[in-house]
Amino acid sequence: MTKLRLAIVGAGPAGIYAADILLKAERKFDVSIDLFDHLPAPYGLVRYGVAPDHPRIKGIITALRDVLDRGDIRIFGNVRFGEDITLDDLKQHYNAVIFATGAIKDADLDIPGIDAAGSFGAADFVSWYDGHPDFPREWPLDAASVAVIGNGNVALDVARVLAKHAADLLVTEIPANVQAGLEASQVTDVHVFGRRGPAQVKFTPLELRELGELRDVDMVVYDEDFDYDEASRAAVASNKQVMVIDRVLQSWRQRPGVNNAGGEASRRLHLHFWAKPVEVKTDETGRVAALVYERTRPDAEGGVVGTGELREVPIQQLYRAVGYFGSPLPGVPFDKKHGVIPNHEGQVLHKDSNERVPGVYATGWIKRGPVGLIGHTKSDAMETISHLINDQASWWQPADPSVEAIPALLASRGVAWTDLDGWHRLDEHEVALGAPHERARIKVVDRDEMVRVSRGE
Ligand SMILES: Cc1cc2nc3c(=O)[nH]c(=O)nc-3n(C[C@H](O)[C@H](O)[C@H](O)COP(=O)(O)OP(=O)(O)OC[C@H]3O[C@@H](n4cnc5c(N)ncnc54)[C@H](O)[C@@H]3O)c2cc1C
Ligand SMILES: NC(=O)c1ccc[n+]([C@@H]2O[C@H](COP(=O)([O-])OP(=O)(O)OC[C@H]3O[C@@H](n4cnc5c(N)ncnc54)[C@H](OP(=O)(O)O)[C@@H]3O)[C@@H](O)[C@H]2O)c1
Repeated sequence: MTKLRLAIVGAGPAGIYAADILLKAERKFDVSIDLFDHLPAPYGLVRYGVAPDHPRIKGIITALRDVLDRGDIRIFGNVRFGEDITLDDLKQHYNAVIFATGAIKDADLDIPGIDAAGSFGAADFVSWYDGHPDFPREWPLDAASVAVIGNGNVALDVARVLAKHAADLLVTEIPANVQAGLEASQVTDVHVFGRRGPAQVKFTPLELRELGELRDVDMVVYDEDFDYDEASRAAVASNKQVMVIDRVLQSWRQRPGVNNAGGEASRRLHLHFWAKPVEVKTDETGRVAALVYERTRPDAEGGVVGTGELREVPIQQLYRAVGYFGSPLPGVPFDKKHGVIPNHEGQVLHKDSNERVPGVYATGWIKRGPVGLIGHTKSDAMETISHLINDQASWWQPADPSVEAIPALLASRGVAWTDLDGWHRLDEHEVALGAPHERARIKVVDRDEMVRVSRGE
């Protein structure tokens, strides 16, 4: 029987679902899959993006782990595609590759002052509080007043983690350095800015409602933002999600002492709509001192136009949460404008000619762009896998498809890779670190330590 030796690069949900779907699919060939990730732990943004105070979503890891634990997928963690292993290597040893490398960087926000000291990307902050090994351990939470730009779920995650008291995050899996950083936070006011109105936000009702439940944090909304135009009214009336969001916001407007003013709490979370960022002003030392924004108004089609009215809010830190962006992979076509691998339904295309690149596939955020939930990566994977199965005639013909070839190659390059048993060891180690403190786990952040624990060294 023909055999498909498949490499998948990226052990986030997209890569793991792709492996699972292929192994369960009806097909006329045997399959063996090697899953590579540059991190020593699998699960991508489920481990390093989903907020630590969302344990139910983190629980998706259990389903992903079940796929890996079936035992028919080999894992090579701590292996970076482009450095430890290349596309030419993969062609020597596999019939095809699926890239599922997601996105970890922040999209740019092109306004003056955005590079000032105290101005950060939300993705970097998320990586810090989720204990990603490749980000600095220290985060200076020394600002009283902070701006978060964007009206997506990442903006709400960041605003919530900033506003929440550290003690209320303790039950979660946050690493010790993050706990210490959050405990030292000086924050009193978190201002979230959306360039459109309440009926055009990208965040979801559950995540919005959660803000109103934070202990000792008052929600502040502004009456002037709720003067809806026809398009906004129609959106509220016709879209259940928008309707619920509007209902939650309206309920906050009714809270005594909260609307426009703030109540008794020691921290406030302000939601500003119709506010397009224009400039980050700095003080004499070059640090963030204020955000200048322009009031916008609806253009009747769901978009906005500037009103010319500029306003300024004093802040000492700013987080841009205006979307993530994929990174190019050596030797693999890349669409610089959209931050994705150019593809047709997961079949990778040459950048200029739009012709197929045989044997090369993509799935998840690097295929589709950085939008959508974990569940969406499943339908993505189905589409990509169905092409892979039907494309048998154009698979690579590897010179050495033996299963020993890859461990030998990595060993010859001095790569300290980790495997599934290693992940189990790290997993148990983290759970044991949490147990005396009645916490689900405490994450290990240092990459060398992760590798040492995984390899039992
Ligand atoms: C802050 C944040 C919070 C989120 N919260 C939720 C939520 O609560 N609920 C929900 O449903 N969705 C949530 N999402 C969306 C969800 O995380 C994504 O839909 C999903 O993770 C995308 O999966 P992916 O596998 O394509 O990418 P990723 O999860 O990013 O996985 C990509 C993997 O590829 C690896 N990789 C990258 N480059 C290389 C390389 N060169 N060599 C080897 N390996 C590499 C990475 O280490 C990573 O493990 C959130 C997203 C973010 C950003
Ligand atoms: N709890 C959860 O379920 C959860 C948590 C986190 C993330 N996620 C998912 O992960 C995906 C990514 O989330 P995300 O928040 O990064 O992206 P997103 O949903 O696309 O939101 C990006 C936000 O940035 C704004 N924006 C973009 N460019 C801007 C600019 N130049 N100036 C001002 N604002 C700008 C957008 O406004 P416009 O709409 O006006 O363009 C939008 O409000 C989403 O699908 C999200 O649902 C889910």
